[in-house]
Formats: sequence, C-alpha cells, structure tokens
Amino acid sequence: MKIAILGGTGSIGEGFALRWAQDDEIIIGSRRPEKAKSAADRYLSEMESCGFDMSGIKISGLDNHDATKRADLIVLTVMFEHVLTLIEEIYDALENKILVTPVVPMKRIEDHFIYSPPPQGSAALAIKEAVPTSTRVVSVYHNIAARKLKDMECEMEYDAVICSDDEDAKKILFNLTHEIGCLRPLDGGPLAVSNMVESITPLLLNLAKMNGLEDISIRFC
Ligand SMILES: NC(=O)c1ccc[n+]([C@@H]2O[C@H](COP(=O)([O-])OP(=O)(O)OC[C@H]3O[C@@H](n4cnc5c(N)ncnc54)[C@H](OP(=O)(O)O)[C@@H]3O)[C@@H](O)[C@H]2O)c1
Repeated sequence: MKIAILGGTGSIGEGFALRWAQDDEIIIGSRRPEKAKSAADRYLSEMESCGFDMSGIKISGLDNHDATKRADLIVLTVMFEHVLTLIEEIYDALENKILVTPVVPMKRIEDHFIYSPPPQGSAALAIKEAVPTSTRVVSVYHNIAARKLKDMECEMEYDAVICSDDEDAKKILFNLTHEIGCLRPLDGGPLAVSNMVESITPLLLNLAKMNGLEDISIRFC
C-alpha cells in the first residue's frame, strides 16, 4: 500500500514509518516539505544501520496535502488540537481514502492527564464528521507507546483495538497491524465506541507516572 503519515516527522509517526516501510511505500507528510524529506532520509538511514535490505524500501517526504493525494491510506499523527484544521487543508485529497486516527484528545491537569473529548464524543467521531462521506475512518493505535514502536529491537506484545464502521477498512488495518509485528489486532466494534479506547491512553500515562513505569501499553488476557 501507499501510506501517508501526516505529521510523520513527530514521535509516533517515526515508528509507523520504520515498521511499515518493510512492506509498504511510505510518504511522510509535514507542513514543510523540506522537513518531511529530511525525516524520510533519516528513517532510511536508521533502517540501513539496523541492517535491512534497502533494495525495495521507499520512504519519501512531501507536504501534507501532496502526501495525502499520493496515498491509499492516511495516518493522522498530529495532536487533536491541530487535526480539524489539517483536515480542512487536505479535504479534497481525502475523497475515497482510508483515514486512520490514533488521535487522543486529552489535557494535563496539574500532575495528571484527563480524557478531554470534543462535543461529538471522541476524536474519531469529530474526524468522521469533518471528512468527505467517501472517506472511511478507522480508529486504532491510541494505546501504543511511540518509543516502543520506533525501537526496532523491541518485540512488542500488545493489543491494538480497531474501531470502524467499514468492515473492509477494518480488515486492511488488521493486516497492517500484523505487519508491524508482535501487535495483536482486536476488533473493538464501530467508530461510535472509539471513546472507550481513546480514554485508556491518559490512564496509561497516569499509571506510568504514579508508579515509576515507562511506556506501558495494554494486553487483554
Ligand atoms: N506519542 C505517543 O506515544 C502516542 C501514542 C498513541 C497516540 N498518539 C497520538 O498520535 C498523535 C501524534 O502524537 P505525537 O506524540 O507523535 O505528536 P508530536 O510529535 O508532538 O507531533 C507530531 C507532528 O505534528 C505536527 N504538527 C505540530 N503542530 C502542528 C500544527 N499546528 N498543524 C499541523 N501539524 C502540526 C508536526 O509536524 P510538522 O512540523 O512536520 O508539520 C509534528 O512533528 C497525537 O494525536 C497523539 O494523541 C501518540
């Protein structure tokens, strides 16, 4: 697949790029194309230094709009407060695409985080309302820690709960989750229940801080 990672210059975008580039073409999106290109070059060097066979690996960098136009599937790796403006900027390029959201709306209050959803009830539902009707929205990867995702030596054993109203798009995300390696995709139901999955992330951050743990995620067993 051609996968655009918007805001792919940031923390969690890097991990998706490194993991999926082994099987898919990756296009890093940024507000500044030169920043996207330099991130793409950096990720290619990291893969090379990890010993990957680079012959079939493609990672490029474009501005967010061009990256969206070029891709079949788009991952939104920007903070919730910037997401709706970004969607307005790329709206026409989102027609008939799959849009993946790991976005968690949350706030810091003193020493802890709280889930802070928009009036629609979740980031996923606000995003669904903002995109063209032909765009299929899938909500997943909220509970995966960026540092573990980008550490290619880290064999994760966590669950990725997938919510969507489109069964075909959900299947594609099941396959992409298997490609990441050591992540188990789980069907979480329709997009309407994404709030439950999104709200686990501030809980994980609070547990990590209060108990001296690092980069914790979830496994249901
Ligand atoms: N970090 C994690 O462990 C983690 C885990 C699960 C889910 N998530 C979710 O993933 C998303 C990204 O998190 P992150 O930690 O990767 O974020 P981040 O590193 O703080 O930012 C990601 C990218 O957002 C872009 N950005 C910044 N301000 C922007 C603006 N005003 N408009 C458009 N783009 C802007 C930047 O890219 P450019 O400057 O190149 O445009 C930046 O590199 C969030 O919604 C978060 O809730 C994160």
